Amino acid sequence: MKIAIVGLGYWGPNLLRNLVALVGPGSVVVVEKSLDRIAAVIPQYPSVAYCLSLDQALDDDEVGAVIVATPVSSHAALVRAALDAGRHVLVEKPLAASVVEAIDLVSCAEERGRVLMVGHTFLFSPRVERMREYLQEGRLGSVQYATSSRLNLGLHQRDVGVIWDLAPHDFSILFHLLGEFPVSAQTSGRCVVRSGSLDVAFVNLSFASGIVASVDVSWLAPRKTRSTVLVGDRQMMVYDDLNNEEPVKIYDKGVVIPDPEGFGEHQLTYRHGDVQAPFIPAREPLAQELAHFLACIDGTETCRSDGRFGLHVVEALEAAERSWQEGGWPVDVETAVPEAGRSGYATGRLAS
Ligand SMILES: NC(=O)c1ccc[n+]([C@@H]2O[C@H](COP(=O)([O-])OP(=O)(O)OC[C@H]3O[C@@H](n4cnc5c(N)ncnc54)[C@H](O)[C@@H]3O)[C@@H](O)[C@H]2O)c1
Repeated sequence: MKIAIVGLGYWGPNLLRNLVALVGPGSVVVVEKSLDRIAAVIPQYPSVAYCLSLDQALDDDEVGAVIVATPVSSHAALVRAALDAGRHVLVEKPLAASVVEAIDLVSCAEERGRVLMVGHTFLFSPRVERMREYLQEGRLGSVQYATSSRLNLGLHQRDVGVIWDLAPHDFSILFHLLGEFPVSAQTSGRCVVRSGSLDVAFVNLSFASGIVASVDVSWLAPRKTRSTVLVGDRQMMVYDDLNNEEPVKIYDKGVVIPDPEGFGEHQLTYRHGDVQAPFIPAREPLAQELAHFLACIDGTETCRSDGRFGLHVVEALEAAERSWQEGGWPVDVETAVPEAGRSGYATGRLAS
């Protein structure tokens, strides 16, 4: 089977490098409408075939899967065309530019029995996996709240604001770690460089379990920050993706609440215990993500970031942006994915 990669802009070459390493150059077809981008990248891969439109790639019966790495506003049309042509699809985050588009793509993939995977790359990071293991082992106890920050100077996107560009990473990490999706979003933010396009946003998410999370995203910050903090009632965990030596640290810190009947009433004690930094082997998340996509097509693995997961992320993104548009009031995150105890859209609900 050959695999087509659509889009060789900023991110596509990373997918191409990993895919060629995984399946060999003869099994990869590049689709890029810009001759300049083809001229810039393809000379490094002389055995990789290329064409200028997805339709040309879909005419080749040997192309069994398509990877979409184009701007968000173009995802829906390209993914739909590939699914309609019976191909499996891995689409870069976020799945689509609206909930309506995302529901359509998930329904289409499910009706046709094709894999629809979303490139939520951090779900394939060994660091995030280690954090998830710690949570599942109960090391943190009951999670109380989380914060996540993704800040830098740029890169401004032309077709979406900072929430749709950066928050898919934080949202997907949090939803994967917490094992639940938010019920409401409340956002403040500012459009500084271009009117109508947020460059900085502060999103507060609430979850049915009572967990609250604060997500800060910015294209207008003096320093690069990529960190997530989870505070449990037993321990606390800090993930700093820029720290290659000790990216994950567990802090044995907390507050000891005295027996209210006892002498120490109202006297809280603060516990300052050890800090642990586990060794986590370095493996490129994108290589893991692509291998997982192929395993999902083979049927040997169940998709970790499938269309439904991607749809949940889009539902949260849309609610977060709508809250900002409506003046910063909390907005319910409705879901089309059937879930116990959650309200859903009146229409467009997916089958159980
Ligand atoms: N997973 C990650 O960590 C990560 C990081 C960066 C970007 N992304 C995602 O990757 C996607 C692409 O982002 P980018 O920054 O590389 O965008 P980009 O604008 O730099 O590149 C997009 C490329 O797609 C090409 N293109 C657009 N429409 C096309 C079409 N119909 N047919 C063929 N080629 C087409 C353009 O010519 C361009 O070269 C986005 O969805 C973005 O969110 C993911």
